[in-house]
Amino acid sequence: MNKKQIYKQLLNYAKQISENSYSPYSKFKVGSAVLCDGNKVFCGTNIENASYGLSMCAERVAIFTAIANGCKKIKAVAVYSKKGNVSPCGACRQVILEFSKNADIVYNTKETDFVVTKISKLLPKSFSKKTLKK
Ligand code: THU
Repeated sequence: MNKKQIYKQLLNYAKQISENSYSPYSKFKVGSAVLCDGNKVFCGTNIENASYGLSMCAERVAIFTAIANGCKKIKAVAVYSKKGNVSPCGACRQVILEFSKNADIVYNTKETDFVVTKISKLLPKSFSKKTLKK
């Protein structure tokens, strides 16, 4: 499979899991699928709360699941929403960067089309663990 086919499949996983989204407040279902080293895939959805500020994005749920399962090197993050054009929010960008400086970010623009970009492009001049080193 070439990269385009792999990312299409990754988006398809994100689409499937988006059906499990718990989003009774925004009614905005988001799904995410993370491709790790070893080609393992972990998925997540957004999970909201009556205390709105406690809600969590699909990307972070997917990434934290990957980390908890022993996969700390992220190759790509796919994000799916029915409307399309959901590029990861600022908080998720910072979390993605923690686990990869070079991750591909994939999101659908329409039902079938998608774009691929880089986390370094979405979050330039970022704060990272490198800055903390003495
Ligand atoms: N959301 C995500 O899950 N990922 C994003 O990249 C943007 C926003 C969620 C958070 C909230 O549950 C809903 O979409 C509306 O903002």
